[in-house]
Amino acid sequence: MRVPERPDLATGPAPALACRDLVLGHGSAPVLSGLNLTLPPGRTLALLGPSGSGKTTLLHAIAGFVTPMSGSVLLGGRDVHGVPPERRAVGVVFQSCALWPHLTVLDTVAYPLRRAGASGGVARDQAAELLSRLKISSLAARKPAELSGGEQQRVALARALARRPDVFLFDEPTAHLDAHLRTVVLDEIARQRGEGGAAAVYATHDATEALAIADLVAVLHGGGLAQLGTPEEVYAAPVDEQVARLTGPVSVFDGALVRPDWACLGGPLTATVAEVRFRGPHTDYLLSTPRGCVLVRSAGPPEHEPGASVGWTLSRRVTLSPEVR
Ligand SMILES: Nc1ncnc2c1ncn2[C@@H]1O[C@H](COP(=O)(O)OP(=O)(O)OP(=O)(O)O)[C@@H](O)[C@H]1O
Ligand SMILES: [Mg+2]
Repeated sequence: MRVPERPDLATGPAPALACRDLVLGHGSAPVLSGLNLTLPPGRTLALLGPSGSGKTTLLHAIAGFVTPMSGSVLLGGRDVHGVPPERRAVGVVFQSCALWPHLTVLDTVAYPLRRAGASGGVARDQAAELLSRLKISSLAARKPAELSGGEQQRVALARALARRPDVFLFDEPTAHLDAHLRTVVLDEIARQRGEGGAAAVYATHDATEALAIADLVAVLHGGGLAQLGTPEEVYAAPVDEQVARLTGPVSVFDGALVRPDWACLGGPLTATVAEVRFRGPHTDYLLSTPRGCVLVRSAGPPEHEPGASVGWTLSRRVTLSPEVR
């Protein structure tokens, strides 16, 4: 499957990242084939795909830990074939945080600052500032073995932010975090990008996170890039049903795909409430109709019981757009 590049997003200065006819694997069969994409400076690309779709493999290839089977990776317009990871201007936060076991948290974060030329005192002050913003100042003197998974993830993030790279690579950086810390970390990532103009590639299997954080979303499945588009495009005009399902909840009504936020209770269509799911700020109703079961999202707490007859309205359907392939 080959997806054309987005020419509208590929203009201007040298792209922060480009992949050209990239084929990646781990020895035998390719994991990803025919990958072409371009990320302008300062933009965020989300890699969205199910487990095993190749998100980590692609990040490792950009960072220099996986050698492409064919094709090329360009950073800042330069083909980085054969350039070792430490000489690529990328800051990485990997799924396994890969912290140095013998360094304290403060020294871990100060290390890239010292390598960039800061004196010991300045590096430690700047590192302490980053720890404070990520709410881990109290851990400064600890070593990785004394940290929880979520704490390790924030230390790895602080170390990557300290490098001030041209491209950040994030591999599910919020996977071990509770809802509050997830917001802290996502805000910090957004803030750093705003300040430094660095681009970011952000791998996740969480569609909500991908659509919220990214300028561009690359949906990976079936051994390649299924769709590359803005969050609005992949959500409202997915190329196929699989992309529709990967980019958010969807139900099938009358042969068409429907997002829960495009239907509402009240209106001319009739249905029976099959299930009620309280979600905190909203309630999801699964409605049974003669033409299929539809998930409808309604603000506020539950107002109907299973078995109730309700009216509902459908404002919009998902438009499959296979022509953008
Ligand atoms: N070192 C390796 N050797 C052989 N196969 C590998 C290796 N690393 C990954 N794979 C395989 O490559 C495929 C893609 O793996 P990858 O880790 O890139 O997926 P992912 O999208 O990051 O998944 P997840 O969401 O679970 O992290 C999988 O089928 C995986 O089993
Ligand atoms: Mg992964």
